[in-house]
Amino acid sequence: MGAAMSAQKTVFVKTYGCQMNVYDSERISELLAPAGYSAANSPEDADLIVLNTCHIREKAAEKVYSELGRLRELKALRREAGKDTMVAVAGCVAQAEGAEMRRRAPVVDLVVGPQAYHEFADLIAKARDGRDDVVATEFPARDKFQTLPARRGRQGVAAFLTVQEGCDKFCTFCVVPYTRGAEYSRPVAHLVAEAEALVEGGAREIVLLGQNVNAYHGEGPDGQPWTLARLMGRLAEIPDLARLRYTTSHPHDMHDDLVAAHRHNAKLMPFLHLPVQSGSDRILAAMNRKHTADHYLALVARIRDARPDIALSTDLIVGFPGETDQDFEATVRLVEAVGFAQTYSFKYSPRPGTPAASMASQVPDDVKSERLARLQKLLHDQQTAFNRSCVGRTLPVLFEREGRHPGQLVGRSPYLQAVHAEAPASWVGHTVDVEIVGQGPNSLAGKVLSGGSVTGP
Ligand code: 5AD
Ligand code: SF4
Repeated sequence: MGAAMSAQKTVFVKTYGCQMNVYDSERISELLAPAGYSAANSPEDADLIVLNTCHIREKAAEKVYSELGRLRELKALRREAGKDTMVAVAGCVAQAEGAEMRRRAPVVDLVVGPQAYHEFADLIAKARDGRDDVVATEFPARDKFQTLPARRGRQGVAAFLTVQEGCDKFCTFCVVPYTRGAEYSRPVAHLVAEAEALVEGGAREIVLLGQNVNAYHGEGPDGQPWTLARLMGRLAEIPDLARLRYTTSHPHDMHDDLVAAHRHNAKLMPFLHLPVQSGSDRILAAMNRKHTADHYLALVARIRDARPDIALSTDLIVGFPGETDQDFEATVRLVEAVGFAQTYSFKYSPRPGTPAASMASQVPDDVKSERLARLQKLLHDQQTAFNRSCVGRTLPVLFEREGRHPGQLVGRSPYLQAVHAEAPASWVGHTVDVEIVGQGPNSLAGKVLSGGSVTGP
């Protein structure tokens, strides 16, 4: 069967969507390595193409189907050249569409949901045998994590680690509880082992991931459920780990010990992504968010009390069904009251099968666009103001990689801003005090202080 059967095969993984998909794509690549697959530079060179898809907003499925149209042509071209190509769809669109995907796009050889990708190697073998049962969308997250091989090899300076997956919150706009399934927290011992392997491979910052990460309640070595704060306390003991972050949190699960971790855990960075979605209590209730605008503001006050310099980030949706001008004004007021360092804002997009999709009084698209434009102007001004407030300060920057210009490195401030500075390449992986001398729309310019005091691991 040509190239697909030869010992050396190549895989190209295209990732859409969130950081958890980035993590999943890394794991898929690692998983396929023992099966003989090395990374291809482009889909044209790949014996196996994996689309790791996202379903959270807007015509995601349509985008995947049009990509599959292009891959159909690519597959035909490669076949003319005597090469086989296998196409796999993974991630949340795979979960939502299931077998329908192969009916609508016969170019697809396998469909693998987010909880089933540990089955990849078996599924490839089945697909190669021409078997029909190549749609895998029904496993619990527990099985996946127990089966995935241990991490090894070289890692980036900043690495992702999924600690929790799935969500039981059922916000009425959100597809995640249906595509990622019920909430599952990985045991502490597994996470410590994986974090140690990441650090061993060169990681100095670990970003703990979960759809509802602060609901983490994995089993500790004592057999008891541990909170996220306790887990981070344990991970902070890894000597060469310099920094910890976590995302994404739900305000309802922001308990006292996690707030306190921002005061006590020296490795926990002062940046928090805490989606609020809306500033209107009526809309928050219709969204099933379990918090009001005042709860959120009070929580922000508690967090700032624990860590006064914390930079806050949020997600906002405009044009949720029934949102009036007054509701939208309440969102604007909340944003003004908090002052965010970074934000993601979206027009509401009906997701099939979610309660909000069938609610009456859907908001017309032009109204959504108008509100979004107004909100994004405000959010842009807040982000610029925050970045400007950093100019003139000295911040510890963890250098991650070489920049585009020779002699330049790119790293991150504690507040997650990208910082560019002239520094020797050997400082990648080190934390260095940098004076912030300028600011662009999405990054800061820095100057390493004379002598370059390299701190930390
Ligand atoms: N429409 C618009 N935005 C959405 N999000 C999730 N579902 C939808 C939807 N149906 C946004 C939320 C969430 C972020 C990851 O995506 O703001 O926090
Ligand atoms: Fe979706 Fe987040 Fe709500 Fe869970 S908490 S349903 S992932 S928006």
